Amino acid sequence: MEKPKFKTVQEVIASGEGLPERYLHTPTGDIESQPLDAPVPEMDIPAIDLILLLSPSDNGRQELSKLHSALSTWGVVQVMNHGMTEAFLEKIYELTKQFFALPTEEKQKYAREIGSIQGYGNDMILSDDQVLDWIDRLETLHEYTMKQQVVIKQFFKGMARSLELDENCFLDMYGENAMMDTRFNLYPPCPRPDKVIGVKPHADGSAFTLLLPDKDVEGLQFLKDGKWYKAPIVPDTILINVGDQIEIMSNGIYKSPVHRVVTNREKERISVATFCVPGADQEIHPVEALVTETRPRLYKTVKKYVELYFEYYQQGRRPIEAAL
Ligand code: SIN
Ligand code: FE2
Repeated sequence: MEKPKFKTVQEVIASGEGLPERYLHTPTGDIESQPLDAPVPEMDIPAIDLILLLSPSDNGRQELSKLHSALSTWGVVQVMNHGMTEAFLEKIYELTKQFFALPTEEKQKYAREIGSIQGYGNDMILSDDQVLDWIDRLETLHEYTMKQQVVIKQFFKGMARSLELDENCFLDMYGENAMMDTRFNLYPPCPRPDKVIGVKPHADGSAFTLLLPDKDVEGLQFLKDGKWYKAPIVPDTILINVGDQIEIMSNGIYKSPVHRVVTNREKERISVATFCVPGADQEIHPVEALVTETRPRLYKTVKKYVELYFEYYQQGRRPIEAAL
């Protein structure tokens, strides 16, 4: 196995070398004209009841319209009644904390190999002059992924219904070989939260992403109309954000929001993100019924969007432009 070249953030801290220059974030234009730790307002997103969402009742219809309005503006919702008990979610948080608390030698047994997305490591290094994110990650497939499969199916159906489409039309494009990539994130306390970022601004390349944000420590922020808003912490809910591939499939009606994670001087933060990615050979394109005279087709047909995504990202371009 080729040994990773770079220290994880945890190793940087343990070495006592101070904050390496390499972590000083370069602001990306207007959207980062404020210091990274400037206070931001909370976003106003609904909690969607996943069971109600698929019920053919008046309440169900109301839930669908809540979903439609949130996904066409913020591109984000909280989800409740997702079928995972408080105790189960607690277990996931505990496992995540326990893993990152292991001694370095133990964690290195799971080190991510170069070019792989699985295992323990720091921010993915894509170029020599890349400014690094203050984040360590464990990426793996996990039993948790199985439990999310139900939620994912329901959410795809709910989104289709909320656009008055056949409930399987997104699921059909997601395909039988869809992939779920679960990423366990640790953001250690950071001495310069004004200058160092947890995750740089980006939109996800997934169809959508399920997220268990830290239960106590804020940090996740979404961009809307040029301003940052923080995601609220709502106990026992999962946060779901639209990714580029649903933006493409919905012909731009549902938004893949730009988001970032800021760091915290005192507290560490953890999160668990699952990226729901259509099968590599699936053709992703706007659903026919959403292409109309008043809403012309915005995106072309793409395959292997995640590969295009990284290509564009690396070149500093907006990945979804790969589908224009
Ligand atoms: C991400 O968007 O990559 C991470 C989200 C989080 O840690 O809350
Ligand atoms: Fe993300």
